[in-house]
Amino acid sequence: MSELKAAITAVGAYVPDYVLTNKELETMVDTNDEWITSRTGIKERHILKEEGKGTSYLAIKAAQNLMEKSGLNPEDIDLVIVASATPDMPVAATATYVASEIGAKNAFSYDLQAACSSFLYGMSVASAYIESGRYKKVLLIGADKMSSIIDYTDRTTCIIFGDGAGAVLFEPNQEGYGLQDEFLRTDGIGREFLKIEAGGSILPASEETVRNKKHFVYQDGKNVFKYAVSNMADVAARIMDRNDLSREDVQWLVPHQANKRIIDATANRMGVESEKVMVNIHKYGNTTSATLPLLLADYEKQLKKGDNLIFAAFGGGFTWGSIYLKWAYNS
Ligand code: UT7
Repeated sequence: MSELKAAITAVGAYVPDYVLTNKELETMVDTNDEWITSRTGIKERHILKEEGKGTSYLAIKAAQNLMEKSGLNPEDIDLVIVASATPDMPVAATATYVASEIGAKNAFSYDLQAACSSFLYGMSVASAYIESGRYKKVLLIGADKMSSIIDYTDRTTCIIFGDGAGAVLFEPNQEGYGLQDEFLRTDGIGREFLKIEAGGSILPASEETVRNKKHFVYQDGKNVFKYAVSNMADVAARIMDRNDLSREDVQWLVPHQANKRIIDATANRMGVESEKVMVNIHKYGNTTSATLPLLLADYEKQLKKGDNLIFAAFGGGFTWGSIYLKWAYNS
């Protein structure tokens, strides 16, 4: 096989030390461990507590972890993409700072934002650069400091999200491993259901927006759930269909970690057994752009060269999609 494909050749991850448990949340809002566990599957999440540290801190740590594990020389990186919904600042890409801090001085860099699908879309973008033959090493980092946009008096959102980062390296592969197919979608209807209303060009920051808590995440959970369940399952099933993949052909489902019930529904629709479904929502909650690379880092040792992985994500916007990737190495 000589067609140029884009393969993941290394993985890194980082979560901050502080663990926010369901028990601690019980002291902050009117909730309980039983409700959170049964409705979401989440037990705890990691939070970046130190003042003055943003998403770049998480991203740099994940990239450094990848470089330590793989021996990657940062000067060989061509491009750094930071997929994130919580950039360090509204203007001045987080990726440029991250690239400089990790020593990727021959790289260019930028951010990519598509809410919880940021990393999935980033996989598509990174792969396209590699498949075109234009670049040889693309570092894709999914990082989010969700705690910076969460209202910890709102029980409908504060129990869900956590902070974290994961990084993967994409490189050319001529043996058929790497990204095989993708099916990506959006629907603008979603922006009413999951959003941060203020701080953008429609409603710039003002005393009033701060007073009315318009800089925090608002989510109509029920509606988002409804769209997420059907759309994530649809695209995952569809990508199996059009690649003639039976349930036996799929070694791993790599699903965005928003809600255990959405993950289960997607796996059911695909006919994939629970042992083949990557899950870490109980430890990290929903880390938005970091869920997929954090899964790869947690399951890396179990992955074998040639394994068929189906990625699926759904997020604000709405944004969603599925990617079929052949794993390229044994660790
Ligand atoms: O990653 C980006 C995409 N996001 C998602 O995919 C998230 C999708 N949505 C969800 O995961 C779920 O909708 C939630 C986990 C956010 C909420 O679960 P739900 O089963 O849809 O609950 P609900 O919103 O229908 O609320 C059920 C009840 C309500 O009480 P009443 O009206 O029945 O009396 C809520 O007020 O649960 C109440 N409730 C809570 N109770 C205890 C809501 N939040 C809490 C809470 N603790 N934290």
